[in-house]
Amino acid sequence: LRYEGGAHTLPLLTGTEGDEAFETKTLLSATGKVTLDPGFANTAACQSKITYIDGEAGILRYRGYPIEELAAHSSFLEVSYLVIHGELPDSGQLKEFSEQLRANAALPAEMRAMLDAFPRDAHPMTLLASAVNTMAAFYADTVDPKDSEQVDRATILLLAKLPTIAAHIYRNSVGQPPLEPDDSLGYVEDFLRMTFGGLSGESELDALFVRAMDLLLILHADHEQNCSTATVRVVGSSQASLYGSVSAGVNALFGPLHGGANQAVLEMLEEIRDLGGDVDSYLAKVKDKESKTRLMGFGHRVYKNYDPRSKEIKGLAAQILDRQAEPDELFELALRLEAKALADPYFTDRKLYPNVDFYSGVIYRAMGFPTSMFTVLFALGRLPGWIAHWREQRLDPAARIARPRQLYTGHAKRSYSGS
Ligand code: MLT
Repeated sequence: LRYEGGAHTLPLLTGTEGDEAFETKTLLSATGKVTLDPGFANTAACQSKITYIDGEAGILRYRGYPIEELAAHSSFLEVSYLVIHGELPDSGQLKEFSEQLRANAALPAEMRAMLDAFPRDAHPMTLLASAVNTMAAFYADTVDPKDSEQVDRATILLLAKLPTIAAHIYRNSVGQPPLEPDDSLGYVEDFLRMTFGGLSGESELDALFVRAMDLLLILHADHEQNCSTATVRVVGSSQASLYGSVSAGVNALFGPLHGGANQAVLEMLEEIRDLGGDVDSYLAKVKDKESKTRLMGFGHRVYKNYDPRSKEIKGLAAQILDRQAEPDELFELALRLEAKALADPYFTDRKLYPNVDFYSGVIYRAMGFPTSMFTVLFALGRLPGWIAHWREQRLDPAARIARPRQLYTGHAKRSYSGS
């Protein structure tokens, strides 16, 4: 590496992540230390009180509460309030919160028309990011990051409308007319009725479906400074609006290496199934670097142990799928794939364990969602986390506009005249 500034690079840390060796270098330059840390693998860009992860022990806590306890005892509505406001709501706060969301869940006709104008085969995540960004056009009075009342109103509007936007997108994709939110139902029930209601003729929502969706949303509610949340913080650090910042987060989540991984896991399981279900030969291909075959849904930047969310989702999948007349072939395949991988030192030595995406797609598929909606469901869950981080940064006196440095490795100075 060369840096025009009379600086020197010092190898500070070397190591491996998966199979890629990485080297963090610190550059001693005129403007102080600049550390090269690709993908911010070892760089904390902020301090936060929202979520704690211990990747070695496989621990995840929202505002200090273990994810296992929240999964067992709370609702997504309560967890959304907790993640955003820092405390579990009392009954009065929960009632008011629920009423605010219910009262703001409908979409402006122009936003519906905008969603209807997209090509029918456009990916739902593209429409979701567009709709979130366009909220500023409809609710311009709620975008000033310095105005707490506007921030609280934008928080409610975004939480209230994202499920309706997602349901509208889904029903368009399956050729069903949109349904309005129903005042009588709860947050998650309403979303499921708007997506499924009238589709399969089921008027009574299946209680296990409702609980499964509630739990899936809880498990996705936040995950510290992951790619999409860091994107929300970076965009928000310029004092961009909550809508514009979250829209950027939706786009980051769409990437196959991030939220798109749950869709990629299901496609991987379908590929193995179509090749006769031979798990051993698939894992052999994964171990053959030349094949560039990935074991999707395994491994994690932070967890070097079993992702605690994956345990919860695996148990939920068993409950949902046990009711089916026939065993779910992809779930059976996923169980076999996990068992084989966790018995193979190649994977355990590299600390490659199932993450949140490994089983979630199997459940979403069993609930009737197309793979194109899997990452939308991830975004619905992650919304409280994105909002909480954007709000936290706004009030952080130490927060500055994000401006990562670079190490220049291009041409030395040269003359246009060629002399
Ligand atoms: C997430 O929940 O965002 C994913 O596990 C990715 C991450 O945390 O880096």
